[in-house]
Amino acid sequence: MTLSQAAQAAIAASQRRDAVAPAAGAATLPVTRAMFDELMVPCYAPAGFIPVRGEGSRIWDQQGRMYIDFASGVAVSSLGHCHPAMIRALEEQARTLWHVSNWFTNEPALRLARRLTDATFAERVFFCNSGAEANEAALKLARRYAHDRSGPQRARIVSALNAFHGRTLFTVTAGGQAKYSSGFGPPPEGITHLRYNDVEALEAEFAAHGDEICAVILEPMQGEGGMTPGTPAYLQAARRLCTAHGALLVLDEIQSGMGRTGALYSYMQKGIVPDILTSAKGLGGGFPIAAMLTTAEAASAFSVGVHGTTYGGNPLACAVAGAVFDVVNTTEVLDGVRARHALFMEGLRAINARRPVFADLRGEGVWLGCELAEPWRGRAPAVMKAAGESGLLVLVAGPDVLRIAPSLVISLDEILEGLARLETALARALA
Ligand SMILES: Cc1ncc(COP(=O)(O)O)c(C=O)c1O
Repeated sequence: MTLSQAAQAAIAASQRRDAVAPAAGAATLPVTRAMFDELMVPCYAPAGFIPVRGEGSRIWDQQGRMYIDFASGVAVSSLGHCHPAMIRALEEQARTLWHVSNWFTNEPALRLARRLTDATFAERVFFCNSGAEANEAALKLARRYAHDRSGPQRARIVSALNAFHGRTLFTVTAGGQAKYSSGFGPPPEGITHLRYNDVEALEAEFAAHGDEICAVILEPMQGEGGMTPGTPAYLQAARRLCTAHGALLVLDEIQSGMGRTGALYSYMQKGIVPDILTSAKGLGGGFPIAAMLTTAEAASAFSVGVHGTTYGGNPLACAVAGAVFDVVNTTEVLDGVRARHALFMEGLRAINARRPVFADLRGEGVWLGCELAEPWRGRAPAVMKAAGESGLLVLVAGPDVLRIAPSLVISLDEILEGLARLETALARALA
């Protein structure tokens, strides 16, 4: 083979493996919040400050100001920021293998799948990258399973009003909030929305259409929809009706899993077992990964090539998630979540006793909803903003509910400091 000297030199030059110093320019550009409005598609309205560093449940912004983190992203950073076990797993994997595609499998993915199946009802795992993608896989699997076993008429999906299942066209339609789904053209058909926690509505739907329903999809507690817990009667009725009519029960545990409620997954506390469970957010503790867990029977409806995703089971993501799993799935951490719940509730009740702004305080584990009382309804975003100004990161769940979802291992001091800052923020925003 003849190759010119110039071609050989070009190939050699582009093969440099030594670390290349960043050229002056984009890589070292000073960054301001104004750049967001200038450069980004306007899907978000981030806070005025830019976080640059995190450690445990503390975050620092560009000005060096410290914030207590009661948000964990949105219930994502379950071990806080820069947990040593995650750093170790990521660094080790970063030196070993980054990506091979699903034409090959890889060790971290299989190790994580083994951990998840050993610890849950599931016998099969499908890895992907986001919650929406896990729910998309779950709904496609449920449709395919019903199609192959009962025929094309069994395609109806039952969901709940106010549900949130992600932003793909299918999952946003399965979700029960028109504000997220309207304006995107013809939605996927065959999805019914019933009132959450309404057992009679569920029974009536199955009585009318039992042989057309392929799946019921539910969150054990509606997170985005206002931190509304599913009643045991409702969740158990969904299980019973699905079993009786040959439909699959899909539990969306993207926000409630892994460990957030004080169990590895919330279904373990509810007396039900799903056919499909979706997990994301806390699964990777801040590294993007999601999973659909299911039975061998349901999984058999998928075969090679019918579904997939480029990054599903990526070694870096699975190595990190494996490290998160090993820390979270311990009695120490899960007991600690329940102990923190008691502390949070006590602190929030004390704040409310001094200044009654909450109509209801609810939630499980370190996943809490604080519903504002009548005079303050609609003011949750204002409290969130005031919290930022008081050095605290919190979330909202709709206009009336503040949502607290810290790291599962947040320290006692950080909880107390965060609650003090929350009290300041409430005074500022609800003056
Ligand atoms: C219950 C639930 N399902 C699905 C999703 C979508 O997850 P993602 O944003 O990773 O697609 C979310 C995100 O908030 C969620 O809370």
